Amino acid sequence: MTGDARTSSRKLDHLRICSEMNITAGSPGFEDVRLVHNALPECNLDTIDLSVNFLGRKLASPLYISAMTGGHPDTKEVNRVLGCAAEKYGLVMGVGSQRAALENPEHADSFRIVRDVAPHAFLCGNIGAVQLVTHGMNWVEPAIEMIDADALCIHLNFLQEVVQPEGDHNAAGCLAAISEVCKEAKVPIIVKETGCGISSEVAARLFDAGVSAIDTGGYGGTSWAKIEGIRAQNQNTAGDKTLTSLGPTLLSWGIPTAVSVFEVAKVNKGPVIASGGLKTGLDIAKGIVLGATLGGMALSLLGPALVSEDELRYAIDKIHAELSAAMFLCGAKDIPSLSKVRYYLTGDVRQMIQT
Ligand SMILES: Cc1cc2nc3c(=O)[nH]c(=O)nc-3n(C[C@H](O)[C@H](O)[C@H](O)COP(=O)(O)O)c2cc1C
Repeated sequence: MTGDARTSSRKLDHLRICSEMNITAGSPGFEDVRLVHNALPECNLDTIDLSVNFLGRKLASPLYISAMTGGHPDTKEVNRVLGCAAEKYGLVMGVGSQRAALENPEHADSFRIVRDVAPHAFLCGNIGAVQLVTHGMNWVEPAIEMIDADALCIHLNFLQEVVQPEGDHNAAGCLAAISEVCKEAKVPIIVKETGCGISSEVAARLFDAGVSAIDTGGYGGTSWAKIEGIRAQNQNTAGDKTLTSLGPTLLSWGIPTAVSVFEVAKVNKGPVIASGGLKTGLDIAKGIVLGATLGGMALSLLGPALVSEDELRYAIDKIHAELSAAMFLCGAKDIPSLSKVRYYLTGDVRQMIQT
């Protein structure tokens, strides 16, 4: 198989494994965050305002459709369904890594479909930090143009690279490449993790490099140790046997999302997206209270999107109803008021934040 065919078929493997198997690990820590109940809310549940400002744009809701797919013809339909929802609800949406289409332009339409069905949505392009080091602006500009992106996400996924049979092992030069792209690109740059979270130290280095926002992609949801462990098992060659055992060993590696949001927000140099294991509107509310502006979901939206547009609409309506209920019960009539709500921390999250 050629390199570009391998990238494309890997995207399909990921989609299949994520839709057919349990690929989550651990907890994002939201059970350790309790919002203070307001017995006298003094606001109206039916007029709760979910709108939020993000990177200069007003969005209808803080729900963010995290990067998932594109890059294989069979991924086009799920991207269409997700794009339709982004347009209907006025949400931010990230497409999956555009690497497959940058290696082989035949795959570009599996990404472009999102802009076709979501002409007004805030869309984020996506490339990996390792690819950024190799290709720089030669890939950044076409990635942005491919979907007329409003921002570009650079993903950090070094745990995945460690466990992936064909993973990239050289992480040197990523920060310099990110700094360069922040200077050159015509849209804001968002750096995201993909399931291991971002610490306050790394967040400070990224914001200092010129990054406009950080997406925590914390621990407690989709686990690439699991997904790549399953792929390595399926490939079943001698070298992959080592990887098959490495996956389970790294299953609990990462910063839980609630802790990562707290750490990145305390750096206080730019907006934070809480993501990694979010399942409900209540999780989004807790992310916002800990300092995030948006709450991202990948896996929780993938299942409904693979069923139908109606199923995805039902899932999004449910998330919005949960978020509105949590805001009402905190006495928060809008997102700025929610961000000031008091909270209690318990358990592991409390311990991790204090140390
Ligand atoms: C099927 C699938 C494919 C993904 N592909 C990408 C990708 O191409 N680029 C990326 O930055 N993140 C990718 N992610 C990671 C998500 O954007 C997100 O950071 C991570 O899954 C944690 O969120 P979750 O627990 O809500 O799934 C993918 C996630 C899933 C489930």
